Amino acid sequence: MDGRDLVRSVKVVGSTRAAQGLRTVRAAWRRRRTDAAGLPPRGAERARVPGPVQGAEPGPGGGLIRFSRSELRILVTVNGAVFWGWDGAGPEPSYALAGRCPEPDPRAVLEPDKDGGWRVVAERVTIVVSRHGAIEVCTPGGVMLRRDLPPRWWEPVGGGAARWLQRSEVAADARFFGLGGRASGARLREGTYRLWNTDPGGSFGPGDDPLYITMPVQLVVADAATHLLFHDSSWDGTVTLREGEEGAGSGHDRTGRCELRMDGGPLRCWVVVGAPARVLHTWASMTGAPALPPAWALGHHHARWGFGSEQEVRRIVAGYRERDLPLDAVHLDIDHYDAHQVFTVDRERFPGLPALAEELRRDGVRLVSIVDPAVKAAPGNAVFDGGSAVDAFVRDAAGGMVRGEVWPGESVYPDFTHTRVRKWWGGLYEERLGQGFAGFWHDMNEPTSFNAFGESTLPRSARHALEGRGGDHREAHNVYALCMAKAGFEGLRELAPRQRPFLFSRSGWAGMQRYGGTWSGDVATGWPGLRASLSLVLGLGLCGVPYSGPDVGGFDGSPSPELYLRWFQLGAYLPLFRTHASLRAGRREPWEFGQDVLEHARVALAERRRLLPYFMTLAHVARRTGAPYVRPLWWGSPEDRALRDCDDAFLLGDSLLVAPVLDPGTDRRAVQLPRGRWYDTVTGRVYEGPGQVLVDAPLSRIPVLARAGAVVPVQGEDGGLELEVWAPVRGRSGGGVVVPDAGDGWDEPEIERYVARWEGRQVVVTREGEDGAGGPAYPVRIRGLG
Ligand code: GLC
Repeated sequence: MDGRDLVRSVKVVGSTRAAQGLRTVRAAWRRRRTDAAGLPPRGAERARVPGPVQGAEPGPGGGLIRFSRSELRILVTVNGAVFWGWDGAGPEPSYALAGRCPEPDPRAVLEPDKDGGWRVVAERVTIVVSRHGAIEVCTPGGVMLRRDLPPRWWEPVGGGAARWLQRSEVAADARFFGLGGRASGARLREGTYRLWNTDPGGSFGPGDDPLYITMPVQLVVADAATHLLFHDSSWDGTVTLREGEEGAGSGHDRTGRCELRMDGGPLRCWVVVGAPARVLHTWASMTGAPALPPAWALGHHHARWGFGSEQEVRRIVAGYRERDLPLDAVHLDIDHYDAHQVFTVDRERFPGLPALAEELRRDGVRLVSIVDPAVKAAPGNAVFDGGSAVDAFVRDAAGGMVRGEVWPGESVYPDFTHTRVRKWWGGLYEERLGQGFAGFWHDMNEPTSFNAFGESTLPRSARHALEGRGGDHREAHNVYALCMAKAGFEGLRELAPRQRPFLFSRSGWAGMQRYGGTWSGDVATGWPGLRASLSLVLGLGLCGVPYSGPDVGGFDGSPSPELYLRWFQLGAYLPLFRTHASLRAGRREPWEFGQDVLEHARVALAERRRLLPYFMTLAHVARRTGAPYVRPLWWGSPEDRALRDCDDAFLLGDSLLVAPVLDPGTDRRAVQLPRGRWYDTVTGRVYEGPGQVLVDAPLSRIPVLARAGAVVPVQGEDGGLELEVWAPVRGRSGGGVVVPDAGDGWDEPEIERYVARWEGRQVVVTREGEDGAGGPAYPVRIRGLG
C-alpha cells in the first residue's frame, strides 16, 4: 500500500466508522426489540429432581432406569464410550456425531447394585447409578473418576425449554482441560467458563472468556485415569470449576468440583475413559476424523488485513523471495472484497486476481480467501438476491429477515442449519475457485453483529431450521459456524473433488475438525497474548480439533522485535503457522524488525520446512487416531502430576518437545521433562527425565528436544525425505512412523513404521514388517551419538 492508499483507506475507515457507530446502535435496538416480541417471557418455573428409583429394563448395551419423575437411559457402545440421557434423551440427533450413534456393546449389561441402585459393567468403565439418580463413573478396578449428583431441572410452568444443573465431583488430584478454545488454559483453573461462542470485540488476552469456540467437552486427567465428558447440548450455559486439593496424607483431601448449568437442551452426555491417546481416538471415532490439510497448508502463511492492492501482495511475496524465505500461502482479507461484500472482488485494487493467483502458484504460493457469512442486505447484490430466492436467510418469529451490522453494513445471515441453504452456500465457492483461491478462512461466524449494546450476535428468538426440527438461535448459535464449515467443505468437495479442501474457521463446535481447523482469532499483541496462543492450540487439540495456530505477532498494535521473534519461533512449531495483523497494526514481515530478527526468523522458517514431512505425518496420525499434533507434556504420562500443571511447553507428536520462550529477556528456561532421555536438537546435550531441567534459549532459537529413539521424517537438502534418528538409550529401542504423502489428493499412503535399536556399537534402523535386509528406503542420519 503506498502512502496515498493508506491515507485513503484510513479516511474510508474513519468515515465508515462514524456511520457504522450509528448503525451499531440501531442494530442493538433491533435485536432487543426482536427478542422482546419473539422470546417467551421467563415466567414461573417448577423445580424437579429424578426422585426415587422405581425399576429398570435392560436393553442392548445397558438399559433404562425409571425414577419417579424422570428416566435414565444408559448405553455402552462398541467403541467403549458410554452414553447416558435423562428424560428420554437419546444420542441422536446430534451436531457433534459424525454419523449415526455407534452400535451398542452387547457385552455391557444392566444389573442391580446395592441399596436399590443399578450398574452397567463395561470393558473399560463401570457406571453405578444410585437410587436417587447419582451417577458414578468408575474404572474397571472400582476407582471412582467422577460422581454426578442427581440433576435438577427448572421447567417453565407454561411449557418450553427447561434449564438444568449438573453438579459433579472428581478426584482431589484431577485437573481440568478443554471446554473449547480458552485463553487462560490449557489447564483450566478455578472459575466460571461460559458456553456461548463469542467475538470478544477488539483483541483479547488471557483474561477474556468466552471466546469464539466453546464446547461442553471436558478432559479430566487424574491418577486413576483420564476421562472425557461431553454434554451434547448446544444451548448457552456455564461450567464452574474448582480444582481439588490433596491434604498431604492428612486424609482431608478436597474433591474437585464441576457445576454445569444449561439454559436448555437435552441432559445427555458421553463419557470416554482410558489413557489420553485412547480417549481422543474414541472421541474422533464418534465426532469424525480431522480433515487432512494439503501439504502447502502445513507451510508458512502470510496474511494481513489491508494489503489493499495486488501490487502490495506482489511486493510482500517478492520480499520473501528476494530474501530467500520460504512462503506457502498469502491470505486476502475483507479489503479485497468490493465494499466488504462476501464473494465479490474490488476490481479496481485487485483487477486480475486469477492471473495473480496463477503467478503466485508458479512460485509455490497459494492464495487463501476470507469468507464471512453475513451478506449485505441490498437487492442487486447477487449473493443477497440468490439467497433470497432460495429463502436462505435467518428470519425472526414474525417472519421478517433478521438484520445485523457487519463489515458491509446492514446484513442478513444464511441459516446454515438447513440442508438447502448449505447446498446453495457451498456452490458459491465456485466464484472463489474461479478467482484462483486455494483455501478458505471463515470469519465472523459466531455469528457476529456489531451491536452497540447487548450481545454482539443475532437475537435469541431468531428462527432456525435445525435440520427440519425447527428452533431458535438459543439452540442454533453455538453450531452456526460448524454448519457453515460443513457447507463450505461439502461445496468444495463437489467443486474440486480431486483436492483436499483447506478451510479454517474462527468459530465452531464439537465435530468441527471434520471440515478443517481454526485459528486464535484476534489475540492481543503482548506477552500475555503469546501465552494465550499456546493455551488455545493445546486446549482445542484436547477437544478433538488438532489444526490451529495464532496470529503470529498478535492481531493489533506493534510487537517489539523480541516479542515478534518469540511468537514466530513458537508459530513455526504449531500446525497453522501464519503471520497476520489488523488494518491499523504495525508490520509483520520478518524483515521489518531488523537484521537479527530476520536471520533468526529465517532459521525458524527453514526448520519448519525441514520438518514438513513430520508435520504431514502428524496430520495423518491425527486423522487416523485423533491425536493432536500439539500435545500437553502429560500426554504419554498422565500419572506425572508435575506435568499436569505445566502449560508452557508441549509435545509435537511423539518425538519432539518444544519449549517456547513466553517471557521477555529470556536466554535460558526451565523445562519440566517427561520420563526418558531427551536431546537438545541443536547442541546435542542430553537431559534425563522426569524432572525439571534448565535449557539454553538464546534469542536465535527456542529449545526443541528430541526423545531418545525417535525416528523423525524430515526434508533433506535435495528436497527428498530423510530419517533423522535420535540414538536410543543403550539397551533400549525406539521408533517412529512415516506417512509419505503426495501433498494433495485422496490416495491413502501406507503408514511406515520404523524401529531404531542398538546393534553392537551401532544404531540401526529397520522398517517394521520387513526383514530389515534392505533397511529404509530413505537416507538415515543418526544423531545424539555424542
Ligand atoms: C476479524 C478477524 C480478523 C480479520 C478481521 C477483518 O477481526 O478475526 O482476522 O482480519 O476480522 O476481516
